[in-house]
Amino acid sequence: MTKSTEQLLKTDRESIFHSSTHLKQYAAGELPGRIITGAKGLKITDSEGIELLDGFAGLYCVNIGYGREEMADAIYEQAKKLAYYHTYVGHTNEALIELSDRILKWAPEGMSKVYYGLSGSDANETQLKLVWYYNNARGKPEKKKIISRERGYHGSSIASGSMTGLPIFHAHFDLPLERIKHTMSPYYYHREVDNMSEEEFSQLCADQLEAQILKEDPDTVAAMIAEPVLGTGGIVPPPNGYWPAIRKVLDKYDILLIADEVVCGFGRLGANFGSDLYQMKPDLMTVAKGLTSAYLPLSGVIIGDKVWSVLEDGTDQWGAIGHGYTYSGHPMGAAAALCNLDIIEREGLVENSRVVGQYLQQQMHAKFVDHPMVGDTRGVGLLHGLEFSSDKYHRTQFDPSLKVGPQVAAACLDRGLIARAMPHGDILGFAPPLVATKDDIDQIVDVTEQAVNQVMDKLVKQKLWF
Ligand SMILES: Cc1ncc(COP(=O)(O)O)c(C=O)c1O
Repeated sequence: MTKSTEQLLKTDRESIFHSSTHLKQYAAGELPGRIITGAKGLKITDSEGIELLDGFAGLYCVNIGYGREEMADAIYEQAKKLAYYHTYVGHTNEALIELSDRILKWAPEGMSKVYYGLSGSDANETQLKLVWYYNNARGKPEKKKIISRERGYHGSSIASGSMTGLPIFHAHFDLPLERIKHTMSPYYYHREVDNMSEEEFSQLCADQLEAQILKEDPDTVAAMIAEPVLGTGGIVPPPNGYWPAIRKVLDKYDILLIADEVVCGFGRLGANFGSDLYQMKPDLMTVAKGLTSAYLPLSGVIIGDKVWSVLEDGTDQWGAIGHGYTYSGHPMGAAAALCNLDIIEREGLVENSRVVGQYLQQQMHAKFVDHPMVGDTRGVGLLHGLEFSSDKYHRTQFDPSLKVGPQVAAACLDRGLIARAMPHGDILGFAPPLVATKDDIDQIVDVTEQAVNQVMDKLVKQKLWF
């Protein structure tokens, strides 16, 4: 670097709008900045030479780990051959053809075509348009409402941000849109009735969904969108029996299921997709992140046979479909995705995620199940959430102003580990790259224990707890 960290950060503060940031405090230099200069495997390095173990794979996306030269080569070769051409009116490219065939082989049965975007948000925006078009083409123009879940995360654009079920993504943006409704999340840990079984709680979720559909009028409800495992809303795997119970309700009222696999897809849960693991039988799927391991931006909408045949019929009625992005099916993104899938398959990373993921779940459970400050340890594959509680026997939450989750994340960072303080509740999230080994997991769990104990001691000393 020719300029110092300080000089660069000054320009950064003067010129960049950062997500999830207090804008005034950052511009005034009251919040820290960090310039990432390199990364390899599970580690990232900053401009001051500090090395951090990334326990969250960026934003749960760098599944094959950082610094893969093979990926750089694949992108370079594609750039030399064909850096860009559009995919309108039947134009295509070889990388994209191969990739689409490959994705359909990875996907559950009954998937027909792939449409491409650049982000999870734009892919979910496309999903909504397709669902609306689908019902117009079927002569059901009233059937347009979308049901999402409280604590769901589907992006931050107008429609995807509306489908997201987290208050900070709605407040002050005049969202959600009128047609988007939210139903209860399958958050078993926060059940109201103590002695309810997981199966009973799943049935309660399904009953509430059905009641809501009836209240809205089933002829006005088009689709439900959901992550197989809630991610940003708190890393919450579904309780036993949840997906079959939900699917049954949706089938009864002719409502489509969109599985948002942006986090769960391509091995994060130790299966190809969350839809496979939980037998969700979705009609549509959204993929992004793990599709290229974020080496280049690429997302996909995978369309099932049932919806596809109606879209085709729609074009018979109305002509060419009026949806398109300049960068849809970008050849460089496709080349990156192909190389990424080669690596995942060759190195058996879905299986590694399953095996090392089991180890992560066991170790976290063993270390924290009896910890006085931890209410819940939960997860599946290489996705884990640790929820803090001020009274674990009553599942009471800490006063949010204590910021217990962010304090533990900061204490992890001081020890060289990145774990994510999830935005809603005192929950620490883990989603290391799928190349993680058991040694990496040991390090993550040990550092987390030290960090949790440090925050606990501090709260006790300050008489803020117990
Ligand atoms: C499940 C899910 N869907 C959609 C998105 C939105 O993706 P993007 O940030 O690429 O727009 C995310 C992002 O974290 C996500 O976790």
